[in-house]
Amino acid sequence: MQVIIRDSKAAATELAAAIIARELRRRPNLVLGLATGRTMESLYARLADLHRTDGLDFSLAVTFNLDEYIGLPPEHRNSYRYYMNQHLFHKVNIDIRNTHLPNGMAEDIAGECRRYEETILDFGGIDLQLLSVGASGHIGFNEPLSAMRSRTREKALTPQTLAQNGPLFDDPSEMPRRAITMGVGTILEAERCLMLVTGRSKAGVLAEAVEGPVTSMISATALQLHEHCTVIVDEAAAAHLENKDYYRWIFDNEPEWKAFREMDM
Ligand code: GLP
Repeated sequence: MQVIIRDSKAAATELAAAIIARELRRRPNLVLGLATGRTMESLYARLADLHRTDGLDFSLAVTFNLDEYIGLPPEHRNSYRYYMNQHLFHKVNIDIRNTHLPNGMAEDIAGECRRYEETILDFGGIDLQLLSVGASGHIGFNEPLSAMRSRTREKALTPQTLAQNGPLFDDPSEMPRRAITMGVGTILEAERCLMLVTGRSKAGVLAEAVEGPVTSMISATALQLHEHCTVIVDEAAAAHLENKDYYRWIFDNEPEWKAFREMDM
């Protein structure tokens, strides 16, 4: 795992967008795993900018989202399909047929989860998985005690997650109590993971995710087991990290980050 600390949310977002853009230019048919939530909104806005101003091309890209609420149709403004259309898919030149989310309206949810896993495999697996972390420590909707080897499945949401995401609904009591989510095992099979975490409210959970012991109580700690995971944070989210100087030293010295150090951010 590598942790990169940027001065501001804007700079952290800019770096994450630059990494994605570089991967997409290298591999135009990139299989990109996508996340939702407030953190991702500015990242998608930046990717849409890069499409508009620099011609960043999504025409051959394929996407798989981490999760979807059970019981919300795609046109519901709180469904993750709606979120993705609004924040990214309708703003870039992606072929909408190449964008995949679990179907939260499926009659056979277990069958839908199996189908989702098979579709990911049909595309050769996920090349780059974007992630953030929820207040409960979840990645996707892998709530506490999600098995490290779990696959795409139905999960009950914790009261903490209901409290975190409920305010996004016109009537918070309408928020579904269950969701379909890729499993921790599914996420760990991505070739590369890129986690973006910003804001003071995430400082505690971020420190546990990065520097705490690996535990299924905090699914984000599973990323410590991943071979190529980059965690980008702003100063506010980094507040409780113990080894900040080491992380800064890595970013300032490792050749891998040279092109990004020289970026105008
Ligand atoms: C939702 C998603 C998670 C995401 C989280 C972060 O719960 N299921 O994948 O990490 O939101 O939300 P925010 O960025 O709003 O803090």
